[in-house]
Amino acid sequence: MAITTMPDKASLLRFENISVAFDADAPVLNDVSFDVRRGETRIILGAAGSGKTVLLKTAMGLIRPTSGRVFLFDEDVTDKSEHDLFGIRARVGMLFQESALFDSMTVAQNVAYPLLNQKTIVMDREKMEPAVRNSLRFVELEHTMEKHPSELSGGMRRRVAIARAVVTEPPLLLYDSPTAGLDPITAHTIMALIVKERDANNTTALVVTHRYQDGNLVANFRYNPNSGHLDPVGQEGTNTIFMVMKEGRLVFEGSQDELEACTDAYVVKFVKKPQLEAA
Ligand SMILES: Nc1ncnc2c1ncn2[C@@H]1O[C@H](COP(=O)(O)OP(=O)(O)OP(=O)(O)O)[C@@H](O)[C@H]1O
Ligand SMILES: [Mg+2]
Repeated sequence: MAITTMPDKASLLRFENISVAFDADAPVLNDVSFDVRRGETRIILGAAGSGKTVLLKTAMGLIRPTSGRVFLFDEDVTDKSEHDLFGIRARVGMLFQESALFDSMTVAQNVAYPLLNQKTIVMDREKMEPAVRNSLRFVELEHTMEKHPSELSGGMRRRVAIARAVVTEPPLLLYDSPTAGLDPITAHTIMALIVKERDANNTTALVVTHRYQDGNLVANFRYNPNSGHLDPVGQEGTNTIFMVMKEGRLVFEGSQDELEACTDAYVVKFVKKPQLEAA
């Protein structure tokens, strides 16, 4: 009799005992291991300087680990050359902390940048314009194409950065502090976009944040394409895992319930008992 087994969800990003040290300093990532499977959302919490940005940059191959292995899409990328990383990086979208837009370029040029610079994406110019326009329409900023980033508000710049991260339609997205420095309403708009992106395109995402309510939104709401709103679906309705970084170490990994039950004094500081807000 044939035994049918459900294949495990594919591994999209895996760290195996990753440490990162700059010069002779103490490691800024210290023996970090985790495995992000397709369809998961990961919320990464942790104090300033705990290694969250270094973690995401190491995942992208922008920082090379001192020891350990990094796998993207189940492929060992630890020792890959810049050139060999191009193809894989095209499948990873990144929103950098502080947006990191190019001030000298227009919004449209900023969003087109990954299409022009990821050498495996061969896209002719006629196709590029619609891709840029679609991406900007997704963040409701189609009308800003010819503006420069300096002419936009901080929240709008963050939305342009999201458009740039998703323009290659990557299956894996890394968002570094997408709500930092924004007022609560704008922060909510940005998080709603991230949820919409995840649910409309079935992507896997890692989101670094200082705001517990960001994690709560991602973990409990799903985008409803019919109404255009976020519906409360509870923790079972999303596949969200929380991670907490402390001084370069991954000190917590688990569900929202497990996080809220955790009694560790450091972890507790990042948990605010949520009031489920209407989205
Ligand atoms: N290129 C670098 N060279 C030397 N040290 C670095 C470099 N990048 C980061 N660090 C150090 O690594 C540590 C972790 O930095 P990281 O930027 O990952 O923190 P973070 O958790 O993202 O903080 P924040 O919440 O403020 O963004 C810090 O001590 C930082 O000074
Ligand atoms: Mg950071």
